[in-house]
Amino acid sequence: MRQRFSVVFAAAVILGSARSYVAAVNVSVPIFAPNTSQPLVSTLLSFSIEQDRWPDWTGVSARNDFTFKALRNFEALTGQPPNIRVGADSEDHTVWSPTVTINEDLFPTSNSITPYPEATSITVGNGYYALSRFLPPGTRMVWGINFGLDNVTNAVNMANAIVGAFRTTAVRNSGVILQRLEVGNEADLYKDNGLRPSNWTVEEYVPDWESIAGPVVEAAGITSNNGPVTMQGAAFAGQGFTPREIFSLGILESEAGKTISTISQHQYSAAFCNGGNFPLISFMNKTYVRGNLTLFEPDIAASHAQGLDYILGETNSIACHGAPGVSNTAGAGLWVIDYTLQAATLGISEAYFHEGIGYKYNFIQPVTLNFSTIDGSPLDPPQPPHIQPPYYGGLVIDTLVGRTGAAKIVELTVDDDDVSGYAAFESGRLVRAVFINLHAWVTGDTGTRPSVHIDFDFVLGLPSSAVGQSAQADVDSFWGLQATARRLVIQHADDVANLTWAGQSWENSDITPTGQLALEPVNLWEGIDLQATEAVLVSF
Ligand SMILES: *[C@@H]1O[C@H](CO)[C@@H](O)[C@H](O)[C@H]1NC(C)=O
Ligand SMILES: *[C@@H]1O[C@H](CO)[C@@H](O)[C@H](O)[C@H]1NC(C)=O
Ligand SMILES: *[C@@H]1O[C@H](CO)[C@@H](O)[C@H](O)[C@H]1NC(C)=O
Ligand SMILES: *[C@@H]1O[C@H](CO)[C@@H](O)[C@H](O)[C@H]1NC(C)=O
Ligand SMILES: *[C@@H]1O[C@H](CO)[C@@H](O)[C@H](O)[C@H]1NC(C)=O
Ligand SMILES: *[C@@H]1O[C@H](CO)[C@@H](O)[C@H](O)[C@H]1NC(C)=O
Ligand SMILES: *[C@@H]1O[C@H](CO)[C@@H](O)[C@H](O)[C@H]1NC(C)=O
Ligand SMILES: *[C@@H]1O[C@H](CO)[C@@H](O)[C@H](O)[C@H]1NC(C)=O
Repeated sequence: MRQRFSVVFAAAVILGSARSYVAAVNVSVPIFAPNTSQPLVSTLLSFSIEQDRWPDWTGVSARNDFTFKALRNFEALTGQPPNIRVGADSEDHTVWSPTVTINEDLFPTSNSITPYPEATSITVGNGYYALSRFLPPGTRMVWGINFGLDNVTNAVNMANAIVGAFRTTAVRNSGVILQRLEVGNEADLYKDNGLRPSNWTVEEYVPDWESIAGPVVEAAGITSNNGPVTMQGAAFAGQGFTPREIFSLGILESEAGKTISTISQHQYSAAFCNGGNFPLISFMNKTYVRGNLTLFEPDIAASHAQGLDYILGETNSIACHGAPGVSNTAGAGLWVIDYTLQAATLGISEAYFHEGIGYKYNFIQPVTLNFSTIDGSPLDPPQPPHIQPPYYGGLVIDTLVGRTGAAKIVELTVDDDDVSGYAAFESGRLVRAVFINLHAWVTGDTGTRPSVHIDFDFVLGLPSSAVGQSAQADVDSFWGLQATARRLVIQHADDVANLTWAGQSWENSDITPTGQLALEPVNLWEGIDLQATEAVLVSF
């Protein structure tokens, strides 16, 4: 211990004058995974796709290479492609028809608040589900089934079409796997959107859901919650209905309820349904990120107590496709890192970021857009497929997650209102840490860009009785490690492009990194500097 303090002290003396403008924090970093660490699963970063324009994501006669490559980049980091859920609002406006080949959609007119509105009616055929074959091999999927219509025949038709598609040779050969079915999207909103009477309650929801989901699981041959295909439960929008309520109403004892493996809730930090003015600077707020996630703690605990997995089955920054100047910015790219990793520390195993064609909050815009996502104005020339800043946040998250499939995470205590930190462990040992500085540095800011200096204080993380005699020597040896840092560099929080990750840009039609890879050597006893509006990942 003394040796370490003297090293830190010496570093502070040498560097102190040069960094006089820099705020400094000491961060205690455990080298063994504390017993509070939570799983950091390979598919922590997953995606939810609005059902109406699913064929645009996959391609129809041939696969959409942009989508494919965009997802494969994440697979390259974690060893597993992100999971894909298809459903959301249009899940409850979809009917299956024997006479439709792929899909027929009816769209409302575009407007400046919602340039790319969701279809009001979607009619699909078997070929629609078989498009799943165009995703990266090994992708696991969750498919939505219409509960809003309250029509058993249609729900069973959809289940048969989904299960049937995954039995076709083409889908089987693709290696894309059906993992779960979800019956109904955000049923707690049905009483407001006309899908149920305005006095509909959670007491009525449970038997109603069982009456549709029961025939669905029978048709799909789902008999337990540990089979290859299971049910996803809840999928509520807000706190109108909660998992705790439906558990106490006995849903898990029903025929369909017994097949629920996973509880899903949805979360957005705000909503842009009727427009509005959302300041990016207040959105990039460490306190708000935590406040928007800790509200789920009682339901996470209740789900885990039932032996069920808990996910955010649909999420993103601001509901109704995102807010301009917030959801599409580099600041949202940083927010995504803090939000997703914070979720993981709370026991949320996966966060499915919702995406549609032309939505403001997309990580990926997989087809050419003819209208601005921001205000619906015509784009001349049209904008080819491209990634948006949150995609870089995804690269940072999946670099932290790594390839073992068995990593663990803890949040690090960083005594700064804007800076958060997380550590990742493999085989119980510290391997990586990430720090995110949410302090917004925006276009027009002048003077010296603020920066925080982070000094590391390596600690055991477990009682020495648990890690053996050589533990202190392990801590001391950490100081000598030659660590490496990768930075997510952003010019301004309100930029919508021009980010770099470890020195490289991914903004090209192949979504391949261009430019020189920048791996910074880190002397751990010196610590690191982190600018306002930047993230840094340290590999030990
Ligand atoms: C960090 O720790 C060092 C060594 O214990 C101490 O001298 C310094 O004041 C601490 N800095 C902060 C910002 O707490
Ligand atoms: C976790 O570790 C802390 C101390 O490091 C200890 O107080 C606590 O009892 C442990 N909890 C469990 C569940 O082992
Ligand atoms: C339920 O769906 C089936 C199949 O789409 C349809 O034939 C039937 O008319 C629907 N029932 C009601 C009451 O709408
Ligand atoms: C809900 O309202 C309908 C009339 O719209 C009524 O028939 C029904 O009894 C009400 N249900 C409850 C639980 O109050
Ligand atoms: C974040 O929001 C909280 C609540 O409004 C506020 O008190 C705090 O100052 C904000 N943090 C920053 C760094 O602006
Ligand atoms: C959630 O985030 C939004 C947007 O940043 C913020 O306005 C709201 O206060 C947050 N909610 C909580 C409970 O912290
Ligand atoms: C943009 O226009 C082209 C040419 O009309 C069309 O093929 C394409 O589907 C349009 N893109 C979107 C997202 O609607
Ligand atoms: C990206 O950077 C280039 C060169 O600095 C600049 O011309 C361009 O406007 C920037 N694009 C965006 C969207 O910020």
